[in-house]
Amino acid sequence: MTDNKISKSNPWWKSAVIYQIYPRSFADSNQDGIGDLQGIISKLDYLEHLGIDAIWLSPVCKSPQDDNGYDISDYQDIDPIFGTLQDMEALIAKAKEHHIRIILDLVLNHSSDEHIWFQEAKKSRENPYHDYYVWRDGTKGTPPNDMRAAFGGSAWEWVPELQQYYFHQFSVKQPDLNWENPKLRQEIYNMINWWIKKGIGGFRLDVIDQIAKEPDKRITNNGPRLHEFIRELSRETFQKADLVTVGEAWGATTELAKLYSNPDNSELSMVFQFEHICLDQMAGKEKWDLAPLPFLKLKEVFERWQTELYEKGWNSLFWNNHDLPRIVSRWGNDGKYRVESAKMLAILLHGMQGTPYIYQGEELGMTNIQYEIKEYRDIESLNLYQERLQKGYQKEEIMRSLYAKSRDNARTPMQWNDKENAGFTEGKPWIKVNPNYKEIHAKRQLTEENSIFKCYQKLIRLRKEYSVFVDGKFRMLCKEDASVFAYTRENEDFQLLVICNFYDKTIRNPLEEPEPSAKLLISNYLKIDTNTVLRPYEARMYLKDFRKSLNS
Ligand code: GLC
Ligand code: CA
Repeated sequence: MTDNKISKSNPWWKSAVIYQIYPRSFADSNQDGIGDLQGIISKLDYLEHLGIDAIWLSPVCKSPQDDNGYDISDYQDIDPIFGTLQDMEALIAKAKEHHIRIILDLVLNHSSDEHIWFQEAKKSRENPYHDYYVWRDGTKGTPPNDMRAAFGGSAWEWVPELQQYYFHQFSVKQPDLNWENPKLRQEIYNMINWWIKKGIGGFRLDVIDQIAKEPDKRITNNGPRLHEFIRELSRETFQKADLVTVGEAWGATTELAKLYSNPDNSELSMVFQFEHICLDQMAGKEKWDLAPLPFLKLKEVFERWQTELYEKGWNSLFWNNHDLPRIVSRWGNDGKYRVESAKMLAILLHGMQGTPYIYQGEELGMTNIQYEIKEYRDIESLNLYQERLQKGYQKEEIMRSLYAKSRDNARTPMQWNDKENAGFTEGKPWIKVNPNYKEIHAKRQLTEENSIFKCYQKLIRLRKEYSVFVDGKFRMLCKEDASVFAYTRENEDFQLLVICNFYDKTIRNPLEEPEPSAKLLISNYLKIDTNTVLRPYEARMYLKDFRKSLNS
């Protein structure tokens, strides 16, 4: 960053852009059809060229892959499908040469049932590891209560040998860890410190707001001891190094996010909150019951997070991840205006305050997929299909939900070029490639003048060039406008103005012309002939430099 020193109140991750890799689907180096660590190493040039500062790696630790690695059986080893510990060390070292840090995905709410702790825990009630998990007495067929697991079915699983149930918020193969047990917590800290010594640049903490569960009270997230646990975790591990930490917190409100990301650094750098991306769920609807985007609500949510965390916490900015559908298909337009709308969504998000996350392929405008049911791989999607069939839903209706919301939308192989399997593998890919790879791929966008890739590349560069991206105060404009998303960011030296048409119709521009002194930093149409209209998905970002007007 040119005009902003990095300090305690301005750590490196405030001007950073983070790129999420879903290793299975990124690049396959040994042609077994599954992406791996050597594959990632081979793409570091690409990532440095894009300009990102860090990679968040979805889990690569040893795992039976019941939930694609979010079920870890050894936190201190790499799963053979991804490579070895040496490959991981090589990735950390080589990434560093490319000025890229590696962020590990820590799954601390649960382990795999194949983890040695659980194997021991279920041997007897007296076993020293028994209390590492959450057990309740009961009788077969009558679980302690009717809590449901996120991937369907009861949250309680009967173990006849012990005449006890264990608690699992996700699949039966993901037993919940018992954070009430201090010995377990200490083992976790030792493990994290071991990774920190290896040169890890930070951690993403999977469903961290669920670790303090209290199933007897039906509490899953935001349990009473949650922030006590996180503060201890942070003190024992993260605070000892210069790391970025981001917690996944589905239940976060702005008030809670200020606790998590308090600049005093007692907890985490920031959290992923989902209010903007799960507007229907927040309104009490089920994820799978589709509804149109409540646009004014979306604006209200962004405004609230931008305003309330200003100087009191830190936002993460994202549209996509490995659990969400592709944003260009969801709120953009993956047909005629794919390029324009993908860029609009990028410009809109990257002008805001917080650390942006780009999910692999987002920088190419990769789209959702429509598979046949047998081609889906995601445990959540497959369980939903069975569950809804049994409940009497029509097949077509279930498929429509999957097309819109299945996590596999984000998990199709990365589209590198127009060769077979999009250049992802020469083997048989673990999940089918999106057939649109012949048109949408990295190789083409690297050379094309005005590609989506180039737009992301420029946005990343701009964030490092002007301090206003980091500390500018946010103000929402045109609040009641049903198609325009516009705001300013302002600090002592600059004013940034972002104006976006969120829809596919040409509309009258509700803003006055920007002052002649404002410079157009980036836009998604080649020429701007008039300020009176905004074309479909048109987005513009202007910068006013107050320092210049002072000097002249
Ligand atoms: C998080 C992950 C998701 C996983 C779940 C259970 O939500 O992002 O992929 O299935 O936690 O670990
Ligand atoms: Ca492989």
